[in-house]
Amino acid sequence: MGIDMDFDTAVGSLFQPEGRIDPYPAYDVLRAHAAAFPGMENQWWVTSHALVSRLLRDPSLRVADKSDYDQFWPDWRDNRGVASVVLSMLQTNPPDHSRMRRAAAATFTARRVAAMRDVITAQVHELIDELPAETDFVSSFAYPLPIAVICALLGIPESERHWFRQRAADLTVVLEPISSEEEMSRADKAGRDLEDYFVGLVADRQRSPGDDLTSALVQAAGAEDAVLTGEELLANLVLLLVAGFETTTNLLGTGLQVLLDHPREADRLRSDAERAPAVVEEILRYDSPVQLTSRFTTTPLDLGDGKHLGTGTMLTMLLGSANRDPERYPDPHRFDPDRPNIQPVSFGGGAHYCLGAPLARLEAQVAFPLLLTRLPGLALAGEPVRRDRLVLRGYASLPITTGA
Ligand code: HEM
Repeated sequence: MGIDMDFDTAVGSLFQPEGRIDPYPAYDVLRAHAAAFPGMENQWWVTSHALVSRLLRDPSLRVADKSDYDQFWPDWRDNRGVASVVLSMLQTNPPDHSRMRRAAAATFTARRVAAMRDVITAQVHELIDELPAETDFVSSFAYPLPIAVICALLGIPESERHWFRQRAADLTVVLEPISSEEEMSRADKAGRDLEDYFVGLVADRQRSPGDDLTSALVQAAGAEDAVLTGEELLANLVLLLVAGFETTTNLLGTGLQVLLDHPREADRLRSDAERAPAVVEEILRYDSPVQLTSRFTTTPLDLGDGKHLGTGTMLTMLLGSANRDPERYPDPHRFDPDRPNIQPVSFGGGAHYCLGAPLARLEAQVAFPLLLTRLPGLALAGEPVRRDRLVLRGYASLPITTGA
């Protein structure tokens, strides 16, 4: 693959395993073709940073919600994995979205996230202490850290983390546009298990509230104006677990790989942990853990350049392409934490901007400097294997030696 790729090959490659392993050459071709262009019937691709950023913030656009699912998949509620995501804020439009988001944002505050720093630091040390000399970084670090942090935040006991990790992994496939029947049935089972678990946890926190996020959400849901219904409360609890799990795992795995591939940047971070915020932003830009998201028009939309979209058009926004747009980031394929004004669209934008962005950033900002200083001999010990996914981008395995 390379600059010779034609337009049709570039579109097609996004649906092929090789194209998903490295979609960036195809994104270059598509972006050079147009900032937006039609794909399948009633669907457009959006490639440029300027247009993706603008459209994410456009209040006239909507996400697919339960009314859409009712139309094209009347039985969607039978798959409890799908139902938990569709009923959550991620797939809800105003006014319900605004109400759910307010309740969650009022409880998942900057203060609550900042208070997690010590928990994250202790957890990172513990995981480093336990790392075997030769291991897979994804399974022994990048998976356990986010699940431990989300469980601590939600007030789920340590003994149940492993159980959660399996369910969350099974449920995450519903965030992908295409999944096998077997994957969907595992997602259904995981959804049922998690709903059952959260019903018990919610009842417990209603009886005896603690200082965890679940207790805070339960109180919000039980407020006089019923900020969240019981069904919404469960769906959003499941969402917090699922939305923040594999995405953060992928940020940690990708980030470590990028740092090992850029030893000078790793050295600079090792000797100056203050560089962590810029390094993490550049990792998010350079290889976004979420590659695309979609919106629908609710009125005719003028994209400029004589492009007029009818009502009900689906816009597929290529976040990974926007982050490598040379108009916004000169020399975009170079990893450079010193570039000015890094503002990737990796956490989306507008009303659905990732609620967990500060937490994900904090985990990565704590983890990378500690990994590099405590394990100065950390190195790749084999070929990393990419996960074959269109939306959630990351490694399935990353063999390392700790150098210890
Ligand atoms: C929404 C990315 C971590 C919770 C989103 C969206 C993106 C995203 C792109 C917007 C989707 C859209 O507009 O269609 C990421 C990435 C993460 C991450 C790249 C890690 C590197 C987390 C964490 C949590 C979380 C740690 C919570 C513990 C959420 C929630 C939403 C969301 C609740 C829905 C917000 C809404 O619909 O109003 N995330 N996320 N995310 N994320 Fe994250």
